[in-house]
Amino acid sequence: MKILIRSAQPTDAYDIRRIQAEGWIDNNLSPVTGITQEYIAQVLKISLPPCADKINETQILIEQSPDEYLIAEIDKNVVGWVVRHSYTEGVWAFGIYVDRLYRGKGIGTKLMAQFLSKYPDEKFKIIVSKSNTAGIRFYTGFGFQIRGEKKDHFNDDAVNHLPIVIMQNYD
Ligand SMILES: CC(C)(COP(=O)(O)OP(=O)(O)OC[C@H]1O[C@@H](n2cnc3c(N)ncnc32)[C@H](O)[C@@H]1OP(=O)(O)O)[C@@H](O)C(=O)NCCC(=O)NCCS
Repeated sequence: MKILIRSAQPTDAYDIRRIQAEGWIDNNLSPVTGITQEYIAQVLKISLPPCADKINETQILIEQSPDEYLIAEIDKNVVGWVVRHSYTEGVWAFGIYVDRLYRGKGIGTKLMAQFLSKYPDEKFKIIVSKSNTAGIRFYTGFGFQIRGEKKDHFNDDAVNHLPIVIMQNYD
């Protein structure tokens, strides 16, 4: 299985949104959390298949900063991605997602290693649901530690109580 890591092209926008929606749905949709398909679609605008507006938003982001996204590709299929997406007080937030059919095969590790080596001196943080134990273990392997909790993450009273942690690669 040859994994190619490359910069993004605007034509990757559909797959980026699809893979993000799979991650969101797989991690969060649950009668226990109270997060429903309708909530994910209507409040977060995350759906499968992804909606045209969101695909378009991602296409524009890629055109503006093609090097922010790293894409993992196998046999010309997009199977994962990572992006640096917002900067606050010296710290970058980022997101990483792997296609649900390809998780646990080392693709996330390859993406994350290349991403961090691109920015060896940057401080990064990521927001993770406490229930996402695979995600927490994944980031811990790259030196991230839980440094706090986030409130109101979901911007919705029905689900704001869900425990969310902040993981950082710095003290
Ligand atoms: C988290 C994610 C990006 C990791 O990518 P991946 O390609 O699946 O990860 P890898 O195969 O490189 O695994 C790396 C490490 O992650 C952890 N991990 C990955 N999948 C796991 C699972 N199902 N259960 C427990 N740990 C897991 C392990 O520590 C693993 O190391 P090991 O193989 O030495 O045990 C991917 O699983 C994913 O997209 N998940 C859904 C979306 C998501 O949670 N994104 C992060 C939101 S904050």
